[in-house]
Order: sequence, then structure tokens, then C-alpha cells
Amino acid sequence: MKTVPRSRSFATRRPTTRRPAKRTIDIDANRRLLNNYRYVEHEAMLHLAGWLPRAATFELKCEMGRSLWEYSQHVNSLYLRLREIQSPAFQKPGDQALVTLMAEVLHAPDEFAFASGLYRVVIPSLISSLENHETATFPNSDQPSVHVIAHALLDLRAQLTRAEPILAAAEKAGKFTPAARAWERYLWQLLAACGGVSGLDRRRPAPSGTPSCRVNFVAPREAARDERFPNRLGAVGVRPTEEQYAEHTFDEFERYSTEMLAAETVALVLFAVRGMPWEFEYDTARHLHDEVRHCLMGYEWMRAHDVDPFKSPQFLHIYKWRCQFPPLMQYCMLTMGNEVHAFPYRHRRVKAHEASGDKLSEQFVRYDIADETQHVRFGKRWLPELIKHLGEKRSFEQYTTEVLGVWEREYRTGKFPITVE
Ligand SMILES: [Fe+2]
Ligand SMILES: [Fe+2]
Repeated sequence: MKTVPRSRSFATRRPTTRRPAKRTIDIDANRRLLNNYRYVEHEAMLHLAGWLPRAATFELKCEMGRSLWEYSQHVNSLYLRLREIQSPAFQKPGDQALVTLMAEVLHAPDEFAFASGLYRVVIPSLISSLENHETATFPNSDQPSVHVIAHALLDLRAQLTRAEPILAAAEKAGKFTPAARAWERYLWQLLAACGGVSGLDRRRPAPSGTPSCRVNFVAPREAARDERFPNRLGAVGVRPTEEQYAEHTFDEFERYSTEMLAAETVALVLFAVRGMPWEFEYDTARHLHDEVRHCLMGYEWMRAHDVDPFKSPQFLHIYKWRCQFPPLMQYCMLTMGNEVHAFPYRHRRVKAHEASGDKLSEQFVRYDIADETQHVRFGKRWLPELIKHLGEKRSFEQYTTEVLGVWEREYRTGKFPITVE
């Protein structure tokens, strides 16, 4: 029998000695690392909720709201991935040093110490862990993780690009106290003790104790504003009628510029209520960030009309007034009081702006209506759950009716009685 010589093409189909690049992250390490990233961003998100009302610097406050919302996006993407490879999807990391680091981040002595701990210590370490993970895992087998990581990196790098000039400006203005410097050093030590967010770097000994600059964090009952806001407790006063189009429109967007107060109340609710399903925190993060954007929408409108928004009254007593009530009641007053009742007015404003050919105002209000529709939906979805979770005995209907009675008497009348100091 004649032997058929092997063709060249056959020879090239034989397995070669080439091996895939060595992958240092196997599936078990992958699960542990993704869990670390989720934990770090989830904790950062809740800490930001606590700090947002307390941060006075306007640009930092806005960045906190945006970062918080971006973390919620990443936590959600990581949650969707983690639930495919571990159960339950949300797990406390086994590494106590990482848990300690993230717990300590909250107890910063002031807003710049908190921000530098987050944006100069924790997030850069998270970024370098993600960068390593992106290339050290199996690119095809673990592609869903790579996708999450690549998108998170985009946000996190942009976040540092926005946050760093705010911190640098504060340093230049002499606002970084020795306590803030000591705090940043302490967090570096805690980070080194856990070998970075990934735990893969060389570990150093943990600091022997907590520094004297540490301040045990307490949720703020008053909202802070920086020195550019001279009018913090403005009286609500008489508003121009809707028939006075130009005056009323100015008033309308000046009110938008004060919606930081709504963001601050939602932040307090998010910080205070624990143990609810993840979807509640996810929706609440969006609600919070929307209110920051509504505030910025007011700023954008006022600046487009050559008006300085920092001179507008801030009505900070409204936050203080709401803080007298439990978080559940604050959330109920905001969603079922303020937000439910705003729609007829907002729709009238769209018509008025259309009639006057004011395209910018019309667009802004229509986007606001879209967001506020979601906020009411969040309230209707989560209030019954919150009522059960927090042990409130009244039904949703009865509870809401009674809370709205207080809202009518104290908010709508503009009295805002402060009875608890
Ligand atoms: Fe709003
Ligand atoms: Fe809202």
C-alpha cells in the first residue's frame, strides 16, 4: 500500500508547543477579588451618603453625589456577575484588614480628609487592582468580568480627574488641616496592611491603634454650605405668580438650584436605613444623584441668565426640620408629599415655556418630570417594604395619610417648626 505523505497543511494543524499566556487569576481568586471590589465600592457609596450633607464645598458635594451613583452602577454590575459565581452574591470579604480599612474611611476628621482618603488612597488602589485583573484573568472564559472591569475603570479614572482639582484647590487655599494629613497617612497604613484592595501586594504591619485625629462619624442633622453662600436660612416668602412669566421662571429655576436639600435628605435615608434589598439602595442612589443634577440644572439656567446661584437663599432649615423625623417619615414626606404633588405645576410650566418659546426652560422641566416620575415610583415601591422592614405597625395607606397630615401642617404652610434641638 502506498503511503500518502503528510501534507504540509496537515502538519500545521498539529498542536504546537505555544501555550496561552500565564493567567495568574484563577476562578477562585476571581470570585474573591470581584467580591472585594464590590465591597469597597458598596461601602464607599454608603459612606458618601453619610458625608454628602456634611460636606460644605459645593463642587465636592456634587462630586460625592455623582461618585455615589457611579459606585451604585458598578456594584450592580458586579452583583450581576457575582451571583453567577457565588451564593449569596453579597458577601463580607474574608480579609478583616480590608473590612477595617473600609470601616475606618467613614470616620475622617473633616470633608477633605474624607475625600482624600477616598480619592487618593482607596480608589487609586481599586483602579490598580482592576487594571491588573483586566489582563490577568482569562480573557475569553472570564469575559463578563472583564467587561464590568473595563467599564468601571472608565468611570473611576474620570472620577479622579474630576476630584483631584477640587482637592488641590482646597490644599492651595490652606484648607487641608494637619488632622487631614494625619488621616491620609493612617489610611495608607491600613491599605498597606491589607496588601491593597486586591490583597495581592506585599502586606505591612497594621497600625497599632487609631490616630487622635479620628472622629467617630455621626449622621449630620444639619446641612453644610461653604462660605460662598451668604443666605442660608432664606424665608420662603411670596412667590411671583405664574402669570408673571419672566419673574416666575427666574423663581422656578432658583428653586431648582436649592434641590440639593432633597439630595441631602435622600442621602440621610440611604445612610440610615440598612438591611433593605440591594435594589432599594440602587434606586435611592439614583434618586439622590438626580436631585444633585436638578440642583445643577438650576445653576446652569441661572448662569445662562447671568445670575450668581451662590447668592440664592438655601433654606437649610428645611433639612434640619426633616431631620427631626425618622428616616422613613422623611422619605414618605419627600416622595408622597413634595414629589407626588409637583406634577400639575410642572406640566403647566412646560406649557408656559412652550408658549413663550423658551426652549431651554421647557427641556429642563421635561427632563425633571421624567426623573420625578421615577422618584414617585421609587416611593410607591419601597415605602411598603420600608414600613415592614422598620417594624412600622400602620398600613401603608394609614401611615402615608398621617405623615402627609404633618407635611401639610408644617411644610406646606412654610412654618417648619423645629421642636427638637
Ligand atoms: Fe428634583
Ligand atoms: Fe425628586
